[in-house]
Amino acid sequence: MTQAPWWRDAVIYQIYPRSFSDADGDGYGDIPGIIARLDHVKDLGVDAIWCSPFYASPMKDAGYDVSDYQSIDPLFGTLADAEALVEACHARGLKLIVDLVPNHTSSQHAWFKAALAAAPGSPERAMYHFADGRGEHGELPPNNWTSIFGGKGWTRLVDADGNPEQWYLHLFDVTQPDLNWDDERVRQGFDDILRFWLDRGVDGFRVDVAHSLVKAPGLPDDDADYRMIAGGQGPMWDQDGVHDIYRRWRRILDEYSGERILVAEAWVDVPERLALYLRPDEMHTAFNFRFLASEWDADAYRECITHSLDADEAVGAPTTWVLSNHDAMRHVSRLGRRERPGVHEAFIGPDDEQPDHALGLRRARAATMMELSLPGSAYLYQGEELGLPDHTTLPHEYRQDPAWFQSGHEEIGRDGCRIPLPWEADAPGLGFSPTGRTWLPQPGSYRALAVDAQSGVEGSTLELYRRWLRLRRDLGLGQGTLTWRDDFGDGVLAYENAGVLVIVNVSGAPLPLPADREVLTSSEPLGATLPKDAAVWLR
Ligand code: NOJ
Repeated sequence: MTQAPWWRDAVIYQIYPRSFSDADGDGYGDIPGIIARLDHVKDLGVDAIWCSPFYASPMKDAGYDVSDYQSIDPLFGTLADAEALVEACHARGLKLIVDLVPNHTSSQHAWFKAALAAAPGSPERAMYHFADGRGEHGELPPNNWTSIFGGKGWTRLVDADGNPEQWYLHLFDVTQPDLNWDDERVRQGFDDILRFWLDRGVDGFRVDVAHSLVKAPGLPDDDADYRMIAGGQGPMWDQDGVHDIYRRWRRILDEYSGERILVAEAWVDVPERLALYLRPDEMHTAFNFRFLASEWDADAYRECITHSLDADEAVGAPTTWVLSNHDAMRHVSRLGRRERPGVHEAFIGPDDEQPDHALGLRRARAATMMELSLPGSAYLYQGEELGLPDHTTLPHEYRQDPAWFQSGHEEIGRDGCRIPLPWEADAPGLGFSPTGRTWLPQPGSYRALAVDAQSGVEGSTLELYRRWLRLRRDLGLGQGTLTWRDDFGDGVLAYENAGVLVIVNVSGAPLPLPADREVLTSSEPLGATLPKDAAVWLR
């Protein structure tokens, strides 16, 4: 029997470098800090790491604004540190996936600086989306697109004499100008970036906003007419032309030994559209954000799971499962919301109703047992193995997310899910940094959740994650086939996979356990019943 490629059932642990572990004491995590704590990740039992950007950056969007893709920001270390990280991962049998940010550069990137210095209509400007404004004096933006972070999607330049000139497009922060992927020099530039990192041994790329690189020809207004014709999404998303880019990249990756992969971060709602990114000559996997965004509801999960598996299977790709990341409320907080329990969009601030932490933790553990028992690949976000909630009472003065500023403080932003990790309950800064400094303050609840407070403690979230990951691997759950069981009643998710019966009790009441099966593990202590908001794996 030939072995399936590693990525088809891999569990991949996301490291958000500024908040993982700080070695030099400045309060920001760094690459030497990652290496120093790598055994924690290895011992958890995952297969690979995805590391969010560590490249040179003015840090206007926490590193998703890259000014040089081939150097490391001094905040995080040096290129030698990055090379040492590749080696340290491989020495432990872990793969390393790095982040690639191709939709936009930082406004401090050499390409954008050259574009600013060049005249309208120049080849330098053609690498981005520069355009004259509408209105008599060009005072209106070229179209009505808005930024994801709030406000206009265009900013107008002013020349050296103070005269207004062209506008440039930025779907995100004003310091993140969108590249023009119709320009061959942009494509070649990224071919070089891919090769630069592949030559250094990385095992793949997580591709940032993979569905936005190509824009609709002519940059039409985003309005109801456009969306009706396009099937719901605006002219900046999921354009058919984007697939040529991934075919080109796939050819490059396939020149290298080992199974190097492309992972799409694409918020494409329709599973069949998302699956187009996963055709055999394109990307390998894509985050399944419908699963992350699902309500705590049995029918909603079942529909999502079935639909995702079917759509991906049609192109021969595995499905991935994800519950938390650095852009969404952690699932402990999200599932503990009192109103709108599942919704991921709205972050919680100090003035909002606070989540129910105990309820959220129960549901989060059960959801993780569901995630890890589904066929395919799974993504974990650093700290979820500790059951960390968001810092939902972070005082506004600490906020750094551009969404907070660009939305005029309407959006709380994502800082609450990016808090530095607690390693040691009794150390300053909970052991995140040797000086005790942390770039964002940690909430009081993190102390009892520190790694050393949970390690070796029976029933702790950390020990449960370790057990689930070991069982998942031993039982081959990632490689199995799912069959639904309908005999457990409403509000219950039940399925068989690789000889394991999984029951997730989403109903509001305890559920009698089948007498003829042996309990392998559960998210809560069990008596004769499976409590509500709990999950069990049975053999
Ligand atoms: C998605 C990233 O995950 C997010 O953190 C970032 O702000 C945007 N893309 C823009 O790069």
